[in-house]
Amino acid sequence: MNQTKTRIGVVGCGYWGPNHIRNFLSLGRNGADMVVAADRDPARRQRISELYPMVRVETDASLVFQDPSIDAVVIATPVETHYPLAKQALSLGKHVLVEKPLVTDPDQAEELIYLAETGGRVLMVGHTFEYTAAVNRIKEIIASGELGEILYIRSLRVNLGLFQTDINVLWDLAPHDVSILLYVLQMAPTAVMAVGNANINRTIEDVASITIEFDSDVMANIIVSWLDPRKVREMTIVGSKKMLVYDDTSANEKLRIFDKGVDGPKDYESFGEFPYSYRYGDIVTPFLQEHEPLREECAHFLGCIKTGETPRSGGKAGLDVARVLSAAEASLRAGGQRVELAPIPAIPAQLSWPLRGNGQVDTEDAIAILRAAGA
Ligand SMILES: NC(=O)c1ccc[n+]([C@@H]2O[C@H](COP(=O)([O-])OP(=O)(O)OC[C@H]3O[C@@H](n4cnc5c(N)ncnc54)[C@H](O)[C@@H]3O)[C@@H](O)[C@H]2O)c1
Repeated sequence: MNQTKTRIGVVGCGYWGPNHIRNFLSLGRNGADMVVAADRDPARRQRISELYPMVRVETDASLVFQDPSIDAVVIATPVETHYPLAKQALSLGKHVLVEKPLVTDPDQAEELIYLAETGGRVLMVGHTFEYTAAVNRIKEIIASGELGEILYIRSLRVNLGLFQTDINVLWDLAPHDVSILLYVLQMAPTAVMAVGNANINRTIEDVASITIEFDSDVMANIIVSWLDPRKVREMTIVGSKKMLVYDDTSANEKLRIFDKGVDGPKDYESFGEFPYSYRYGDIVTPFLQEHEPLREECAHFLGCIKTGETPRSGGKAGLDVARVLSAAEASLRAGGQRVELAPIPAIPAQLSWPLRGNGQVDTEDAIAILRAAGA
């Protein structure tokens, strides 16, 4: 066994898991040793054995977690299994990369963060878009002030399919939009409203509209749908100086910056006097050095394991997305009612679970941890 390599297991070899296997195999020189894959479905195991004969296949996640020679695991199974599987893997001392969304219950996210922190293990979420060249460029552009003050954002993620049977469209597609927004804006969401419709399977929403309010009066609207004739992945960010359009389906013009805007009245007393002045300027397409985002994500996971660095899309990012989407789900169930998001607790997330979570509270432990952290 090569001690310098991180021995990886991938759990779940359905649609997405094999992409992790392919990327970790290609990262052999970066320190990955892609050792084992597991799936309960014999046809999927067979496919992996045919594609990657060098990878051992197992029939269940627990067999990977119980293998002491495995350092790190990817969990690419259905969403409702993320929490129990990640908990088991962390408890057995593995570094864990969980596919998005980390969990659907923020308390579960806090517990996983706590387990990772106290066990000294990396917990990372597969927020793939945070590893794209386009999203990182957007983050830089916003931070540079080029767009001016951010006013509002509209995000459209629609297509025909893929209909899911275990989660609604909100939990399937919107984790992407919410993780992108939280990453590029670096603002705290304060309230969420959502409505949705279950058109095809009457128990699972296939169309949803989510409005998120952020501090600084920024509003974002996200529309996600499995029931749309065209594949659209488009985010528009409107700033006081310029506007940016991010079209993820475009091959070579993913980002366009429009030097457009309108200057409205500042201190006019009567509405009739409003002199709006519109600005129409150049449209600029920034050059992007493209790469496969999942490869970048897998390499980052390896790097964090090696250096102890906190991942870009760590457990905290997964918690933040779960907070927004569980508020959206609550709003949707209440016919679109506004659901306020409590401010992020002053206690760091990784410390708060033993105090606030719904698991078994060990008060002694919690107090000792808080004291040690000076909280
Ligand atoms: N980051 C992205 O862009 C992206 C894209 C697609 C899917 N995903 C995420 O990846 C995850 C998987 O999605 P998918 O579309 O591949 O699902 P899928 O249903 O195609 O595959 C899941 C697989 O997990 C297996 N499985 C379930 N429990 C298991 C266990 N205990 N042990 C071993 N195998 C088990 C199932 O047999 C199945 O083959 C989901 O969380 C999804 O949200 C992420």
